Amino acid sequence: MSETTPDLLIHDLSELASPAGEGFSTGAAQGAVERLRGVDVVCREGRIAFVGSGDERRRRFPALDAEVAAGTAVALDGRGRTLIPGFVDCHTHLPWAGRRADELMRRLGGESYQEIAAAGGGILSTVAATRAAEEDLLAANVERRLDAMLAHGTTTAEVKSGYGLSLEHEAKQLRAVRRAASSHAVRVLPTLLAAHEFPPEHRDDRDRWVDLIVDEVVPAIAEEGLARFCDVFCERGVFDVEQSRRVLESGRRHGLVPRLHADEFVDSGGAELAAELGAASADHLVAVSEAGIAAMAATGVAAVGLPGVAFFLRKDEAVPARRLIEANVPFVLATDCNPGSSHTVSIPFIVQLGVFRLGLSIDEALVAVTANAAAVLGLAGEVGRITEGRIADLVLVDGPELEELAYRLGANPVAAVVRAGRVAHRAAFEQRMAV
Ligand code: NIG
Ligand code: FE
Repeated sequence: MSETTPDLLIHDLSELASPAGEGFSTGAAQGAVERLRGVDVVCREGRIAFVGSGDERRRRFPALDAEVAAGTAVALDGRGRTLIPGFVDCHTHLPWAGRRADELMRRLGGESYQEIAAAGGGILSTVAATRAAEEDLLAANVERRLDAMLAHGTTTAEVKSGYGLSLEHEAKQLRAVRRAASSHAVRVLPTLLAAHEFPPEHRDDRDRWVDLIVDEVVPAIAEEGLARFCDVFCERGVFDVEQSRRVLESGRRHGLVPRLHADEFVDSGGAELAAELGAASADHLVAVSEAGIAAMAATGVAAVGLPGVAFFLRKDEAVPARRLIEANVPFVLATDCNPGSSHTVSIPFIVQLGVFRLGLSIDEALVAVTANAAAVLGLAGEVGRITEGRIADLVLVDGPELEELAYRLGANPVAAVVRAGRVAHRAAFEQRMAV
């Protein structure tokens, strides 16, 4: 960050909660969170410069209180509040057009997600709306969704294409993402997901779409620098293991890191493929096999649970979070924000699903949406923990301890969000249930 970022003081924190260790936290360390009470934090030039007692802070930064009084430094009051790392939402599908509330109503009436897709709804209905949209509209939609994510504490987001399904429209989606991100506080890492579905024009010759992705889409997107990761929907009825492998190997040849939507509805061998390729993560995993879990554990591939999907699709099946953690697979949570199967921007809501539906402790859930999510995106050394030297991406929670994230059901307990040392968002009103 530039030298023009004023110093930021966060003082008298009721609690500071930050994942212990370095890199991926696995097994018992998945729940290892350091908690400090009554400390101050100083951010300087976008980074965390100090964590410690008020007395020590006044010794190390003797002019800071006067600068705050003069308005040349910024202060946030930590009393009754908890400081945690900014959330890293490592799996979203933001650049879409159109709405699918009608499909939700049909599902509430008993139809299944797959039945609606087979009848012409689902992903392909969003593809039609997204193809018809101008890049401007998509960029505005992404910007608005990033605003909402920031207000819920997200400071870093991965954002996928996947509703264009042609070079022209995938590139349009990713250019819209780049434009929206260029002036937004949220740090954005883009992903090419051309292998999200088979487009209508290639449904009778599916390998043709795989050939096009491999030979044309991946090289062009990589050449334009529009994506960091390459993802594929590896699932029965969508991309099989061989097709997925071809797409991801092509991505890797062009510098895109592989990730997978894997084993969402049935065990399709996606987890094993993620392990074989050394993917950054395998995501969904509701139907993952024991062999798939073992393969991921052996190769250190992270598991991204997306519990908003089961909630939104009204399904009882859940990602086997406890089995994954016990197998030492790094466990991560994300929103999967998309118009059809998980229409939420809220990591606090996902943390609540992680605790209530997946049986995580609040400490495990915090690690899943901060340190481990940062490691999936290759950012573990920079964000996801509150330590001196890391980038100052922080969330001030309006409550006296980390437990507030689970306790305040359905609420957004985010009081303020700091991104690279600047206050990027403040809640409009005081939300505490008690003082
Ligand atoms: O990640 N699983 C595949 N794709 C999305 C759903 C997209 C949609 O329904 O529009 C997902 O859940
Ligand atoms: Fe997804």
